[in-house]
Amino acid sequence: MKSVGVSAGQIIRQRRSLLACDGRTSIPAERFYRMLARVMPRAELPVARRPMPWDAIPWDPAIHFSLFVHRVKGIDPGLYALARDPGKVATLKDCMHAHFAWEAPPGCPASLPLFLLERGDARQLASQVSCGQAIAGEGAFSLGMIAEYQASLAAHGPSFYRRLFREAGAIGQVLYLEAEAAGVRSTGIGCFFDDPVHQVFGLKDLAFQSLYHFTVGGYVDDLRLTTLPAYGRRVKARQRGMDLP
Ligand SMILES: Cc1cc2nc3c(=O)[nH]c(=O)nc-3n(C[C@H](O)[C@H](O)[C@H](O)COP(=O)(O)O)c2cc1C
Repeated sequence: MKSVGVSAGQIIRQRRSLLACDGRTSIPAERFYRMLARVMPRAELPVARRPMPWDAIPWDPAIHFSLFVHRVKGIDPGLYALARDPGKVATLKDCMHAHFAWEAPPGCPASLPLFLLERGDARQLASQVSCGQAIAGEGAFSLGMIAEYQASLAAHGPSFYRRLFREAGAIGQVLYLEAEAAGVRSTGIGCFFDDPVHQVFGLKDLAFQSLYHFTVGGYVDDLRLTTLPAYGRRVKARQRGMDLP
């Protein structure tokens, strides 16, 4: 892991998508739990009192995680589920494979509805369902954002489809920053095979639909790319009354 203890501003400016994973860096379970805690909107609170940025999403969480855990120190590799609304655990359980274990992983805070579904090496599987992208299997973990689909659209109308993607996008931004702050990196994965993802977790019909995937892990820089300072040059130039192209 490469950078810790820096300001939020620096993390926001330096954050980049990982282009390749190193296939070996692991993160401690406590850090994994902290990252996941940050995507919890605290659905039990009124929207205005939910932690940032969830106070800007004026509906109850409709997106949960199906996770492929590869390298998290202290917990077993395998398939996991996170209910971003603790009240939805039973619904998820009903819709997934009946043989899943639904065990709380060791040291997991009671407030985090994270469950081990099945132990095992899910590295190849994660890559396969992500259009063969190695980044999904070579990081610490990857995940599918599975949306409460049919019920949400029936309750709120077709325009809620866009809102599901907005929620997924906000989750992605939080994961990008949390990964950067943890000294690893992440990447949004828009290329995945939704039907195989649903099959892996036992999801049938249209109750849940995977909308967006993400991977988090140790990164390998691509030396062919040049990274320029983000925004800082432009802000300083504006302060001096200059206008940059
Ligand atoms: C919605 C979305 C889907 C993406 N899908 C993929 C993907 O399937 N594979 C991949 O390698 N990168 C994917 N990315 C990462 C983009 O390639 C990356 O964000 C882009 O190159 C800009 O780089 P930056 O995030 O470092 O600014 C995705 C990003 C977003 C926002």
